[in-house]
Amino acid sequence: MRGKHIILGVTGGIAAYKSAELVRRLVERGAEVQVVMTASAREFIGPTTFQALSGRPVRDSLWDSAAEAAMGHIELARWADVVLVAPASADFLARLTHGRADDLLATLCLATDAPIVVAPAMNRLMWANAATQANVATLRSRGVRLLGPGSGAQACGEVGEGRMLEPQELADHLAMLLVDSGPLSGRKIVITAGPTREAIDPVRFVTNRSSGKMGFAVAQALREADAEVVLISGPVHLPTPPGVRRIDVESAAQMADAVQAELAGTAIFIGTAAVADYRPEVFAEKKIKKTQQRLELALARTPDILAGVAASADRPFVVGFAAETDAVERHAREKLVRKKLDMIAANEVGACKAFDCEDNSLLVLWDNGRAELPHSPKLELARALVRLIIERWQAQGGDAVGEHAGQTR
Ligand code: C5P
Repeated sequence: MRGKHIILGVTGGIAAYKSAELVRRLVERGAEVQVVMTASAREFIGPTTFQALSGRPVRDSLWDSAAEAAMGHIELARWADVVLVAPASADFLARLTHGRADDLLATLCLATDAPIVVAPAMNRLMWANAATQANVATLRSRGVRLLGPGSGAQACGEVGEGRMLEPQELADHLAMLLVDSGPLSGRKIVITAGPTREAIDPVRFVTNRSSGKMGFAVAQALREADAEVVLISGPVHLPTPPGVRRIDVESAAQMADAVQAELAGTAIFIGTAAVADYRPEVFAEKKIKKTQQRLELALARTPDILAGVAASADRPFVVGFAAETDAVERHAREKLVRKKLDMIAANEVGACKAFDCEDNSLLVLWDNGRAELPHSPKLELARALVRLIIERWQAQGGDAVGEHAGQTR
């Protein structure tokens, strides 16, 4: 979002308080944000907050001669790379549908050729009302993009659809929309994430402590870079990042099958999944009864999905992960060589490190190089890793159009 110009329209709704947080999320990503408020928005939140957070005086009137002299409303409409209205009230959606130009924000929406994105927020019955739904359908047909609304508890005490999406979600969606076509544009990338479950009997399984957070963050960062992302995930409790195609699996064998089925046309393969290394040798069709004092479970190796992809003909660029409890660099480099990977991202696990945490750090290795990505939130780390992957993939000529079958164009 660096250097992108965003007009953030704030209309009258209780969710307007969340827009302050939204400004922070957008500015944090390097965007320039100009807040434009409607008269009713000012009943919910003051412009000083937005001015402080965006570093620009808020615009709210067509008739402010000083502001118009600095940047007239038509210039402002041209300045925008995107207009995001959040929250978008029922009244604003109606005015937008009818092409009204009765205040600054509505006028800007008429006068801009930048994409318009709205994040509706209103009472569930106002949202469900036929008039609002007809307006929304018209706006959609004209190319206006809708983000949300989500459902849940509402400020009015009711529960249902009509909540504005959270600022972080809105910022993520917008980042995707603003991406310039980069080296990953349209390239297919397959990524595995999460743990696998290896069934013992119909009610029990062997698994591990992976939450899937790192893999999902990498999938999101790849999608932000405009790649076509296929996320093959074991059982996790995480929402699918916007724009990512997700395939859910349970066992290592199912994950291996799903990867095989998706491999054609894949430019880059990333294995972040904590695949179970062993599965119970036999699956008991019926629940095992606790009649014995000791029970031995014979285990058999699961297929190494990552090594399998790296050994395939016309292999894509292959990135592995390594979770190590000791001698991280030595073990990771040994894995890089043994599995014939192009790159490996290693981290230290154990004692509340890496698994199920929000933050992480990575040591990234390739044939004759290394990079340390410092401790940071997993999404930031994922973005830094994606930058490195792009660099190495390009250095290997992976982005040369049609050079080998691992590419989609
Ligand atoms: O050998 P180790 O399990 O430590 O290797 C970790 C890397 O290999 C990860 O990228 C993981 O996703 C991948 N892996 C795999 N299939 C397995 C075991 C590991 O793809 N059966």
